[in-house]
Amino acid sequence: MPPSAPLALGLLLGLWLQCCWSQTPPPSSTRAPPPSSTRAPGTAPPPSSTRAPAQRLKVRLAGYPRKHNEGRVELFHQGEWGTVCDDDFSISNAHVLCRQLGFVEATGWTHSAKYGKGLGRIWLDNVQCGGGEKSIALCKSRGWGNSDCTHDEDAGVVCKDERIPGFVDSNRLLVETLQVEEVRLRPVAATKRKLPVTEGVVEVKHRDGWAQVCDLGWSIKNTRVVCGMLGFPHERRVNKNFYRLYLERQKNFFYVHSVACSGTEVHLAACPLEFSRPNSTGACPGGAPAAVSCVPGPLFTPGGLKKKLKTGVRLKGGARLGEGRVEVLRGGEWGTVCDDRWNLQAASVVCRELGFGSAKEALTGARMGQGMGPIYLSEVRCLGTERSIWNCPFRNVSSEDCQHLEDAAVRCNVPYMGLENTIRITGGRTRYEGRLEVLSTDPNGTQTWGLICGETWTTMEAMVACRQLGLGYANQGLKETWYWDSSNVTDMVLSGVRCSGTEMSLSQCQHHPTVSCQKAAAKFAAGVICSETASDLVLNASLVQQTVYIEDRPLHMLYCAAEEDCLSKSAAKANWPYGHRRLLRFSSQIHNIGRADFKPKAGRHSWVWHACHGHYHSMDIFTHYDLLNANGTKVAEGHKASFCLEDTDCHEGVSKRYECANFGDQGITVGCWDLYRHDIDCQWIDITDVKPGNYIMQIVINPNQEVAESDFTNNAMKCNCKYDGHRVWFHNCHIGTEPCSIPVDPD
Ligand SMILES: *[C@@H]1O[C@H](CO)[C@@H](O)[C@H](O)[C@H]1NC(C)=O
Ligand SMILES: *[C@@H]1O[C@H](CO)[C@@H](O)[C@H](O)[C@H]1NC(C)=O
Ligand SMILES: *[C@@H]1O[C@H](CO)[C@@H](O)[C@H](O)[C@H]1NC(C)=O
Ligand SMILES: *[C@@H]1O[C@H](CO)[C@@H](O)[C@H](O)[C@H]1NC(C)=O
Ligand SMILES: *[C@@H]1O[C@H](CO)[C@@H](O)[C@H](O)[C@H]1NC(C)=O
Ligand SMILES: *[C@@H]1O[C@H](CO)[C@@H](O)[C@H](O)[C@H]1NC(C)=O
Repeated sequence: MPPSAPLALGLLLGLWLQCCWSQTPPPSSTRAPPPSSTRAPGTAPPPSSTRAPAQRLKVRLAGYPRKHNEGRVELFHQGEWGTVCDDDFSISNAHVLCRQLGFVEATGWTHSAKYGKGLGRIWLDNVQCGGGEKSIALCKSRGWGNSDCTHDEDAGVVCKDERIPGFVDSNRLLVETLQVEEVRLRPVAATKRKLPVTEGVVEVKHRDGWAQVCDLGWSIKNTRVVCGMLGFPHERRVNKNFYRLYLERQKNFFYVHSVACSGTEVHLAACPLEFSRPNSTGACPGGAPAAVSCVPGPLFTPGGLKKKLKTGVRLKGGARLGEGRVEVLRGGEWGTVCDDRWNLQAASVVCRELGFGSAKEALTGARMGQGMGPIYLSEVRCLGTERSIWNCPFRNVSSEDCQHLEDAAVRCNVPYMGLENTIRITGGRTRYEGRLEVLSTDPNGTQTWGLICGETWTTMEAMVACRQLGLGYANQGLKETWYWDSSNVTDMVLSGVRCSGTEMSLSQCQHHPTVSCQKAAAKFAAGVICSETASDLVLNASLVQQTVYIEDRPLHMLYCAAEEDCLSKSAAKANWPYGHRRLLRFSSQIHNIGRADFKPKAGRHSWVWHACHGHYHSMDIFTHYDLLNANGTKVAEGHKASFCLEDTDCHEGVSKRYECANFGDQGITVGCWDLYRHDIDCQWIDITDVKPGNYIMQIVINPNQEVAESDFTNNAMKCNCKYDGHRVWFHNCHIGTEPCSIPVDPD
């Protein structure tokens, strides 16, 4: 390590000293070492001093990620910085603390170490302020250092971003530390400037601009943190000589030095590091700017999209790439993770396992929607170095411990691909809708914006466009856009676009080699309506399995069913009303586990009245029921069922909104389900003509993807079906189109 340069503004930066406002001067040295405490928190409390002078108590906000007006609460007492336990914490406490920090009031408070765990002592516990106190030291508590908490329970505050007029910030100039805000890589001339940039000279953004980092003492652990922030799961060593040759000819501006990450941080701001005087050469004697090289995940390597990532973890319900509810695979079945102790370290293990960088956010409380099925893990405690979340210690959960309301989710750092720069929307009424335009480059290198023909445009293509625009999900893909403002429309430049739905940009979808639109007028241009949220329907597979049976139903009871096309073709040749049809019956329960209500696309004016069943059908085809043989051929004619959609029942705390009766609104609310009992007319497959044998039973909901969902991969359900000519058994009923999921053994 180099001898430290004299520091004017120079301050030690780290989680434990990020900013500090108080009404009194700082301790003699602002480069105080991290509070070290060999005592276990909570044990051997020092003599509690209730007469701690109120005016002199220093308070600061710390932790990551946060803004300047929020953070973990830290108090300076008896020469040591320590934290406050969240037990009994309240908004009144937060008001007192925020005012002590010079803000007018609090807007909220946080528990469970939202901003990361502090170090050292837990100074206060069971704090109960009235709200009007001048200092937290004057509020009721167990006394200084008397606590039975761990740092997992560190409290934080969110202050209103408005300063108390005239608040004396005597030590602000001295103590307000610089903070690393962002990181970027500047590729050197000789390396290709393709996106994503995976290698280059590290530059960090701080309050006053961008700076390079001195490479003296730089370790591969620092590189790991930088790569993680930039969306890359792994790091590699750079050829230092190559960079040295290049950089010797440059004028360098060091400002940051002595970076010492442990490798598990999710942001450089969480690593110990120092700022020095701008352009001071003494700060990096004989050193060079640090350069790093990162290894991108398979999604971001050419051709990598085709390689399927084989992991026991996936993200569901997120609107953008690299975010979603965490789901893990055990014994062939996907389940969720409980948010108890869910933190950035565990979230980062998930992100890196999926080929993204470190985690930007670890979300609790089912922020990305509630999952279905088992909850496998709770209290996941990762160091951040594990290759898989299954390698982190965890607790098994039972349904009493944890519910889907507490499903954990992540937002990962993803590499900058610049995809949003080659697409835009125009003419819409809000920033979430419009006619699509793509940027195309002609052979001369001239770039022009142009429209896309709407003919082949569906929800699938719109999904990709909305993702590329960074606007979330597609609510609708429009083939015609005549009702939007059409001054300044451009020409059609793309036609025949067909996407599978998983692409990151329209350029990865199929399209015609040259533009050929059947209708070239701008009113037939493709458009989108994007949305941050979408519905997500899933069938309860175990209910199908449990309720299946065969009924031989007399034809005289099937007139209505025949009228609604619920019987196979051979029924037409039957000797009505004599004889019967053999029906495979089962219940289906369709849950909306998304983040928006599922609503039929068609307005009520176009709903169809079904006199025989006495209700309106709002979607022409809502599900397909099929019986397939081993090679996938349909043996019982696919029965296309249209239903009236409603909330049969909901999870606790969710109220029903949709009801079919009396021309009521149709749909399925988030957190509710629509149940079609096995004894409802048409809730069957007509297997009169099917021979005994082994089959596959398949149900697909919203098969034409007519209504947008956040996830279409869970719309199909398959069961193995055994029919001996008299009775029928279903087994292995599961969501997904794979005949059998590949079990991944947790190790
Ligand atoms: C430091 O260096 C940068 C980049 O060379 C330059 O723009 C800036 O003016 C310099 N600042 C000082 C205080 O010399
Ligand atoms: C959790 O449950 C699984 C399956 O029942 C079992 O194999 C595993 O040992 C349990 N793990 C823990 C940490 O209790
Ligand atoms: C490309 O450049 C050539 C030569 O300058 C010019 O003749 C041609 O019109 C240009 N094409 C386009 C599409 O601009
Ligand atoms: C159309 O383009 C003209 C010229 O570029 C611009 O002044 C006008 O604001 C545009 N109109 C709309 C509705 O965007
Ligand atoms: C699915 O159906 C089974 C069997 O009736 C039931 O026990 C379970 O609670 C249902 N699952 C959900 C999420 O409602
Ligand atoms: C699939 O099954 C059907 C009906 O059993 C049969 O006619 C057909 O030849 C089979 N196809 C293949 C490729 O095995």
